[in-house]
Amino acid sequence: MLGSVLWRLNKLLAGLGLSYRVRANPLSLEREHLYQPPSQPAKHLSGEHFKPTRLEGTDEGQANGELYSIWKDIPGGHKWHHYFDIYESTIRDLGDAPLRMLEIGVNRGGSAKMWNRFLPKGSVYLGLDINPDCKQFEDRDNNIFVEIGDQSEPGFVSRITKEHGPFDIIIDDGSHVCSHMVESFNFLFDTALKSPGVYIAEDAHSNFWPGFRDQSYSFIDLSKDLVDVLHSHYVANDSEMYFRQGHSAHLSSALVPKIATQIKEIRFLDSVVIIYKNTKTKLPVSEYN
Ligand SMILES: C[S@@+](CC[C@H](N)C(=O)[O-])C[C@H]1O[C@@H](n2cnc3c(N)ncnc32)[C@H](O)[C@@H]1O
Repeated sequence: MLGSVLWRLNKLLAGLGLSYRVRANPLSLEREHLYQPPSQPAKHLSGEHFKPTRLEGTDEGQANGELYSIWKDIPGGHKWHHYFDIYESTIRDLGDAPLRMLEIGVNRGGSAKMWNRFLPKGSVYLGLDINPDCKQFEDRDNNIFVEIGDQSEPGFVSRITKEHGPFDIIIDDGSHVCSHMVESFNFLFDTALKSPGVYIAEDAHSNFWPGFRDQSYSFIDLSKDLVDVLHSHYVANDSEMYFRQGHSAHLSSALVPKIATQIKEIRFLDSVVIIYKNTKTKLPVSEYN
């Protein structure tokens, strides 16, 4: 009960343009919202895979690339070390042409300045944050734009993405509240991300922390379900012959959900999910040689 009151209070504060500071006490969240570890893998894999095994804590640095050295130079950030290599390679793969990036979550401006220095020359950064203080990090002369509002407010998100988008890269590093992460992907992936484009959810570990789990269906659940969506065309067409080159049963088309024609690849890393958008118009083909 107290949990849902706090979530409503958060919403109210957000509506008034105040930042999200009231956090539900995890112990007070309703039972159905609490995270339940999945039972399936342990049921289907041998016990050997689940033998308790220790990972050592370390204080040693775990980042050393160019993106990290840029970030290290800029006060006002807080990042997990292992994100830098993931980001650096993902964004380098997009090439040297100017890019448009939307980042949900500006906070103390660290990532806004980092991206501004790292992205190819001529790129545009739009930061979205509920905290009005973040407006100070706007620097229009250097293509850094900041819009103040709630990521879970469809009217606001629609207005600013129409004005500044579409984007090559969208990063969700905002509230980390499960319903927000799902809603943001729901709206932004279809309407505001270019094709090709990259959608990145940062700090996905928060899905496993009850303070951020306002609903049982997390962003990680959604991402795992998208793996099934990626295989939509096989569900009604249950033989390889339907896809075989030159076969009499070869399908001329198959009906799939729109999102199945937009997802090229899904990458799961520690706390980071990357969903690559790329329009697909053709079914896969197999060849019998
Ligand atoms: C983790 S910080 C962002 C850090 C920043 N990307 C960086 O790496 O330097 C999260 C930010 O999300 C903002 N935030 C929280 N709830 C939000 C919401 N509902 N809509 C938009 N922003 C929100 C907070 O005000 C905070 O500044």
